Amino acid sequence: MIPPKPPARPGKASVWRFIRDFRRDILSAQSDRLYRAWMAEFRGPFVHSFTCNDPALVDLILKRRPMDFPKSPRMAAGLQPLLGHSSFISNGETWLHQRRIIDPAFQGGRLRQAFPAMWDAAQAGVARLEPVADGTQIDIEPQTSHIAADVIFRTLFSIPIQDGIAAQVFRAFQDHQDAQPMVNLGGLMGLPRWARIHSRRVRRSAQRIRGLIGQLVAARARQIAAGTAPADLATKIMTTPDPQTGRIFTQAEMIDEVATFFLAGHETAASALAWALYLLAESPDWQDRLAREAHQNLAPDFAAMRSLPLARAVFREALRLYPPVAMTVRQCRLPETLRGRKAPKGAQLVISPWHLHRHQRLWDDPDRFDPGRWETENGKTCQRDAFIPFSAGPRACPGAGFAMVEGPLILSALLRAYRLAPGGERPQPIMRLTLRSRDGIRLRLWPR
Ligand code: HEM
Repeated sequence: MIPPKPPARPGKASVWRFIRDFRRDILSAQSDRLYRAWMAEFRGPFVHSFTCNDPALVDLILKRRPMDFPKSPRMAAGLQPLLGHSSFISNGETWLHQRRIIDPAFQGGRLRQAFPAMWDAAQAGVARLEPVADGTQIDIEPQTSHIAADVIFRTLFSIPIQDGIAAQVFRAFQDHQDAQPMVNLGGLMGLPRWARIHSRRVRRSAQRIRGLIGQLVAARARQIAAGTAPADLATKIMTTPDPQTGRIFTQAEMIDEVATFFLAGHETAASALAWALYLLAESPDWQDRLAREAHQNLAPDFAAMRSLPLARAVFREALRLYPPVAMTVRQCRLPETLRGRKAPKGAQLVISPWHLHRHQRLWDDPDRFDPGRWETENGKTCQRDAFIPFSAGPRACPGAGFAMVEGPLILSALLRAYRLAPGGERPQPIMRLTLRSRDGIRLRLWPR
């Protein structure tokens, strides 16, 4: 099955035409040559940028010399009202300090501890869909968003999404996204900071979310002081000292990180789950195989996750075809020579999982939905060299392991309960905060 892909612009376009198309939709404004090129240079009125598709170049930027290619401040500017100075947008020493505290919370045994909370969120998601599992056409994106937000609240603060403040954060967050659906646009176009003033609505909704998160953090600080805090991710992060400086996060720093976990951890997972469910709805054969696997092996036990290889392969294939973070930007700290071309200091480097994951010179049949590809030689090589849904290197997503448990678990729980079929128009991928569908993803569900 070849799932939807936005039409690419054939060949070259003038700078102004590119900018006009770009404002409409970043993905379809890109040249179709990017699916074959190793690198493409672009000189716009505000930016000199290079899209990097060569795996060796991506490796250099993300893994071998990441400190020479920091995150672009242009990208950060769009996220600052909500995320403050969080790890998602900081660079240098501040970022190193933040990651030394965050990373242990997501490692090994901690995932096992977070599993029961994920399980409960998955079961609550199955129950929420019951009233509409009669063949009614529904948009699945708000549903996956609800489940993914529930996972974050339960694992981070041990509260379900129905809880008063959690529900308010979720609603305020939706409002924030409506106010600022295309935060990436300015960064990718290379607009300077002054050209991207935030609307009052964006600033107000960001302040509201941060105020609510501040209440959760303050309450948790009191519980930690009283010795009554639950052993969840928030407690772990708030009590872990930086092993190099001995400093723990202040409450203000913790608000920045919680806002980030919420943004980076829930929007992304929601997008990947929605696309995965769509792909399964279009592939009755894979759907039945997954449902059988879930009937046999799904259990409220972390160890059982090892017995869900098909769910993992499908989730991975959804992340390949529809990477939630479809593009990201770094910049050159120094003048560089990239594949023989001069890149000045400050040049923008676009890393595009969207193009890398569908590159015609790397992948066999790149646009086809084929979860079996991960077992082939080509699939294994590409998984190593050309698959970066969580980015790569020291700046890779700290939640990658978490997401690779959460995704297959929720898919299995939903597939065990429901049969899916596509409903309405084919979804059209479009790059918003994460990769979404222009008019939602319509499905029909029935009990299995
Ligand atoms: C399917 C789910 C997810 C995907 C596809 C994803 C993808 C990514 C990507 C591509 C980045 C790097 C962005 C860039 O370089 O511009 C990133 C960063 C990050 N992600 Fe995730 N993520 C997911 C889930 C999560 C979860 C569950 C959490 C935490 C609860 C999380 C927390 C973060 C944080 C804190 C960063 C910033 C890391 C840094 O810059 O040092 N993510 N994520």
